[in-house]
Amino acid sequence: MANVAYSRASHVRLSPRDLPRFPDTTLFHAVARAVCQAGVLPRKELFEAWEIARRTRRLFRGGRVVDLAGGHGLLAHLMLILDDQSPAALVVDTVPPPSGARVQAALLEAWPRLAGRVQVLAADLRTVPLGPDDVVVASHACGGLTDLVLDRAVDARARVAVLPCCHDLDHERPQPLGGWLDGALEMDVLRAVRLRARGYRVWTQQIPADITPMNRLLIGAPAVTD
Ligand SMILES: C[S@@+](CC[C@H](N)C(=O)[O-])C[C@H]1O[C@@H](n2cnc3c(N)ncnc32)[C@H](O)[C@@H]1O
Repeated sequence: MANVAYSRASHVRLSPRDLPRFPDTTLFHAVARAVCQAGVLPRKELFEAWEIARRTRRLFRGGRVVDLAGGHGLLAHLMLILDDQSPAALVVDTVPPPSGARVQAALLEAWPRLAGRVQVLAADLRTVPLGPDDVVVASHACGGLTDLVLDRAVDARARVAVLPCCHDLDHERPQPLGGWLDGALEMDVLRAVRLRARGYRVWTQQIPADITPMNRLLIGAPAVTD
């Protein structure tokens, strides 16, 4: 980055005033310039979505992208920008925020090939049909929503990547690893273990902690059996 003091965790909205910070010919800077033009997203969301998308795309190519609890849908768009083999993306949110349309318009301006390929659906994520060709992503599906996302993906045998947040640390809940691990970490470890137990290969990764302290990225795909 041009300025090392520039906090990637900032909740301040990116706007056209930030354009000089992203002058390079890299794909990331091109995405950042589009998000600046949109003028609606907190800075943190750009870095977060980018880090999730690029790590997920290193493992999973193609497939329909389904961004559950997707909010503004930047993550879904990035998944298509990073891999044009995916025909389409679906952003599902009970209440899609108005910022989503601005983000989409700015990205379409820069990547016209995305036109008509990203659908936004105002719906509960429990109701959306999923299939084994899907790549399900969820960034900050708060608390138990992350478990719902994982359950939905696994039931469909879809590939999945989640960045959990807002862990619901109900002390009534059994905490088998509580003597070693803090509550949030334990919850994510158990999520990974459950995925494996349901026949998934699991990757545990982290996005940079200077973007968000809730930076554990849990990725899974149905294990290949002979
Ligand atoms: C913290 S926001 C995350 C938004 C986006 N993924 C991001 O990273 O910025 C959580 C989103 O989940 C949505 N949401 C909550 N319950 C949901 C449900 N049952 N089905 C679909 N979306 C839901 C909310 O409307 C909200 O937009």
